[in-house]
Amino acid sequence: MGAEPLKGKVAIVTGAAGGIGRAYARGLAGAGASVVLADLNADGVRAAAEELERDGYDVASVQVDVSDEASVAEMAGSAADRFGSVDILVNNAALMAEIMGQTLTTIPMDTWHRTLAVNLTGPLLCARAVVPYMAEKGYGKIINQSSGGAFLPSAHYGITKLGVVSMTMSLAKELAPRGIRVNAIAPGWVNTEAGLATTPPEVRAALAVSIPIPFGDPEDLVGGLVFLASAASDWVTGHTLNIDGGWIPRT
Ligand SMILES: NC(=O)c1ccc[n+]([C@@H]2O[C@H](COP(=O)([O-])OP(=O)(O)OC[C@H]3O[C@@H](n4cnc5c(N)ncnc54)[C@H](O)[C@@H]3O)[C@@H](O)[C@H]2O)c1
Repeated sequence: MGAEPLKGKVAIVTGAAGGIGRAYARGLAGAGASVVLADLNADGVRAAAEELERDGYDVASVQVDVSDEASVAEMAGSAADRFGSVDILVNNAALMAEIMGQTLTTIPMDTWHRTLAVNLTGPLLCARAVVPYMAEKGYGKIINQSSGGAFLPSAHYGITKLGVVSMTMSLAKELAPRGIRVNAIAPGWVNTEAGLATTPPEVRAALAVSIPIPFGDPEDLVGGLVFLASAASDWVTGHTLNIDGGWIPRT
């Protein structure tokens, strides 16, 4: 990969006010892309974009609710209006810390429905909204954020994240004829406020002795993201890339 493998490309990152989303937006901008930072948290995403702008990057911000089809259509339209098209979508927004501590037999049904709406329907709505722009060019990259939690019992959260893996395979097959690649990243335990910071100390201690490289920072995910967003991965599709310090052993 060259120094700016994404030069001339336009990317949307959802959940870009959060710990990982901010790092993803910076990583794509650093690789040369124009980036639209999108999040439900309007103040947070504006601040994240302003920070990148101050550093000289070509970015914009937009408020979006990924579970709302009209809001998602507006996000895609505003990205195309501002930067001319959409080449890369990073489906990173999700509910995580705020929905933990529930079991499948006791979870309030409105929490269940909201989790599915944001974590599973959200990525699908965003993909559907950007596909026309990508199909027009016969080229595009969609990267869905899964989790190592997809492969362990993780209740409603894990169910949505395993659903993301399955959606990635189906979209990859469906969109290949239009030149669109669809892959996923399954991170391990990442140092963000919503992630590791809210993990109880005893759980943290157990993880520290059982995982080869137990904890990572958002920046540790960026190399994999840029690979999946760039031409270097043009023959990769339907794949879920574990970036997790060896947490989930998979062949
Ligand atoms: N932190 C970890 O350890 C870890 C591990 C594996 C996977 N992940 C995944 O990485 C992603 C980001 O995690 P994070 O730690 O940065 O979490 P975070 O909570 O900091 O970021 C999530 C962002 O999504 C936004 N969001 C929530 N609902 C939304 C909606 N309806 N529409 C638009 N935006 C919405 C939030 O406002 C927030 O800014 C998530 O998909 C998460 O499941 C995180």
